[in-house]
Amino acid sequence: MRKPFIAGNWKMYKTPVEAAAFVRELKDSLKDVSGVDVAVCPPFPALWPVKEALEGSDIALGAQNMHFEKEGAFTGEVSPAMLQDLGVKYVILGHSERRACFGETDELINQKIKAAFTWGLNPIFCVGETLEERERGITKAVVEIQVLKGLAEVTAEQAENLTIAYEPVWAIGTGKTATPEDAQEVCRFIRELLVNLFGKEIAEKVRIQYGGSVKPENIKELIVQPDIDGALVGGASLKVDSFTAIVKGSI
Ligand code: 13P
Repeated sequence: MRKPFIAGNWKMYKTPVEAAAFVRELKDSLKDVSGVDVAVCPPFPALWPVKEALEGSDIALGAQNMHFEKEGAFTGEVSPAMLQDLGVKYVILGHSERRACFGETDELINQKIKAAFTWGLNPIFCVGETLEERERGITKAVVEIQVLKGLAEVTAEQAENLTIAYEPVWAIGTGKTATPEDAQEVCRFIRELLVNLFGKEIAEKVRIQYGGSVKPENIKELIVQPDIDGALVGGASLKVDSFTAIVKGSI
């Protein structure tokens, strides 16, 4: 049985001061909740104040991106060594906004995933099709390429610490959620790919999140699906009430 995992992707929202105040409230709101792993992924400048504000809580810290090199002349970038030093546990990699707005390729994402494992960070690896791809009936083919290229050269041992987030691009920030059955079908397909890559035992341990307009109202119907183990939440993770309700709804 996989423990549910709810992560908040704050994207480019909340200043460091706002972020710290938010997690102090969130900590209180979630203090009696158990049986679920929870992470918040603030923007880089808020990582340190959020880490301090999270002291004494089980809520984990995640980042939203990183470079794959340890250090170097890469103006504006943040390295895995820096995230590790900060106590970051998870790092979102391959988000569709990184792919679409910043030109990230499957090859680059693969380099980042391998670097995350090297530095003891647990990737939340995002995959998902666009509306046009869904309408053309090539959802599985697109997701298969993303998974296989993104996880090239990843070992079974490393994969134990992997989370995959299936986020159909057309469901992100649009209020449109995939039906639980459609989301399950793709998540099941992803798990079959993981069986081929890493064997059944490891594939059964990998948590697969659904992402895209997850709200308190739809978390229950998603989480009961056998291959959906949690959610990567954008907009609804920015409010203590809605994020708390999603976390509680996942247990
Ligand atoms: P929304 O929950 O705002 O649709 O965003 C989903 C997402 O992109 C999480 O990574």
